[in-house]
Amino acid sequence: MKNIVILASGSGSNAENIIKYLENNAEINVIEIVCNRKDAYIFERAKKLNIPCTYIKNSEIRESDILLKLLKSKADFIVLAGFLLKVPENIIEAFPNKIINIHPALLPNYGGKGMYGMHVHQAVKENKETETGITIHYVNENYDEGAIIFQAKTALTKDDTPESIAQKVHQLEYKYFPEVIAKTVLQ
Ligand code: GRF
Repeated sequence: MKNIVILASGSGSNAENIIKYLENNAEINVIEIVCNRKDAYIFERAKKLNIPCTYIKNSEIRESDILLKLLKSKADFIVLAGFLLKVPENIIEAFPNKIINIHPALLPNYGGKGMYGMHVHQAVKENKETETGITIHYVNENYDEGAIIFQAKTALTKDDTPESIAQKVHQLEYKYFPEVIAKTVLQ
């Protein structure tokens, strides 16, 4: 059995989708969620899904080993599903090729500092891109630069807005992220 801990900061729609997809998987277990924002909607989802969701604040993540200890005791793999804090290096070192992130664009484009959430989709719109997509990748010490596991694309038209781009990207995330996680964890 491989245990996954999900780290998230926001609404948690990807986390919910992953948990539902893996619910009946006998080899993979989403054991816990860790969230660094006290008021995030993911706590509501976790309650309904009956999965523990632990709040750890940013300063504790950066300055103590609370999260490292929790992960070492529970996780075989770590999935970042909209986690907006840089993962501390001691965690990256302890989990080589065991941390999987999803980025809402086609890396190496639209990655790096400040490129998260709607900022990404706004930049894609401003540059009049004709396509965007998702990148699922391992996490290393450099933001958005770990080895790419999977990418999927979606076409854009001139009528797309940052909001409609976000929706198209979310559809790709819901379709592919859970199955790519399952394949990666079991390979
Ligand atoms: C997703 O678009 C993900 O790619 C990005 O953050 C967003 C999280 O959305 N890293 P949600 O919290 O899963 O709804």
